[in-house]
Amino acid sequence: MDAVRIYGGNCLSGQTKIQGSKNASLPILAATLLIDGTCEIVNCPDISDVYHMLRLLESLGCRVCRKADVIRIDTCRVAECDMPADSVGVMRSSIMLLGALLARMGEVAMEYPGGCVIGKRPIDLHLCALRRMGVEIMEGPEEFCARACRLHGAVHELPFVSVGVTENLILAAVLAEGETVIHPAAREPEIQALCEFLVSAGGKINGAGTDRLVIEGVKKLCPVRFRVPADRIVAGTYLTACMCAGGRVFLEDAPCCQMESVIACAENMGVHLRPSPEGLLVEGRACRRLGENLVTAVYPGFPTDLQSPFMAVMALSGQGGQIEETVFENRFRIVPELVKMGADIRVKGNCACVCAGTRLCNTIVEAKELRGGAALIVAALAAEGTGIVTNRHYIDRGYEDITRSLRELGADVELA
Ligand code: EPZ
Repeated sequence: MDAVRIYGGNCLSGQTKIQGSKNASLPILAATLLIDGTCEIVNCPDISDVYHMLRLLESLGCRVCRKADVIRIDTCRVAECDMPADSVGVMRSSIMLLGALLARMGEVAMEYPGGCVIGKRPIDLHLCALRRMGVEIMEGPEEFCARACRLHGAVHELPFVSVGVTENLILAAVLAEGETVIHPAAREPEIQALCEFLVSAGGKINGAGTDRLVIEGVKKLCPVRFRVPADRIVAGTYLTACMCAGGRVFLEDAPCCQMESVIACAENMGVHLRPSPEGLLVEGRACRRLGENLVTAVYPGFPTDLQSPFMAVMALSGQGGQIEETVFENRFRIVPELVKMGADIRVKGNCACVCAGTRLCNTIVEAKELRGGAALIVAALAAEGTGIVTNRHYIDRGYEDITRSLRELGADVELA
């Protein structure tokens, strides 16, 4: 079955190594198209979104070879600019190929990207910004075509921060003619990793990690070997597993310096944390209601991708809490499933109020998207009885093997 079975009520004890970052790997894999030759990307997670990105690269003519945690990508024979719809439509990050292919080939034809149904997720900002760099775009009902004889730099004053738009513009700008300014640029660690990758290949990018990026186009980039950083969202998910179930766990390689807002929130909820360069030690379960609302924001604010797991903590700890989701307009999709388990959660607009004092019982619940699915497994660890979370394929998009990792932390879970 495409599901996970969880035997709730066990305290956790153990350690697990945090996988490479999905949201850093995907733009970096797309960026290899900018480099004529063979790049080696190390520590890419073995997840379905990476599989789909590699399929897209192969469909374009790249030769891809994965050995252990090293992916070799040879782009010398890139010739196509048309990608298989089933891989484009299944994930949002296929849009990352737009900027890279325009820079490499000068034209792209592709379906509109898919991805988790956590909001409308339009690409209007992507297309508008690329037009400013000399790209001609013809939008059809199912797909769009983009063409640029020669990409040129531009000053982008964006209406709001977008991770994907920042990434796409970096990929379009790094080989473009002249200078490109992106403001406000996203500051996420995944953007910083992309910039580090491109600078190591010879790109000229200033301001990584700030809200203003300045990119000077260069003629050519050279092949490199690059290690993807650990995944801060996966680390935060397993932090919430301990916050729900209690116990003592060590999250090896957890990028603590990228998790300050999450660590502060967990400590405010009564959990003892010991961050170190080696990883994150977590002790105890959440035993306090958060003093103020949990408000998601762009980095370095609280990450929207951990909003659902923290909602599970608020419900399972019995402490309750208030959540305000400011990034996506439909990211409370786990609420009906947590209510099936006995939670009392009221949603009004982009705010959710988790009532205190409820005891949750496991039942059959449905994952509807990636992070909400992981949050339901986290919730089931601490609820009474045996639970089933269906649609595991959503969770496999971003977690290498969530049942293996949770078993390493002492949870009683299995594939169902
Ligand atoms: C990236 O999505 C991540 N995905 C998301 O992680 C993450 O939640 C999000 O950034 C915010 O941090 C990847 O990196 C593959 P945005 P992205 O553009 O780039 C609106 C996960 O679980 N918008 O910063 O799509 C958009 O609708 C995933 O790993 C437009 O309106 O996010 C959203 O409301 C989920 N027009 C807001 O901006 C556009 O052209 C922020 O989205 C583009 C975006």
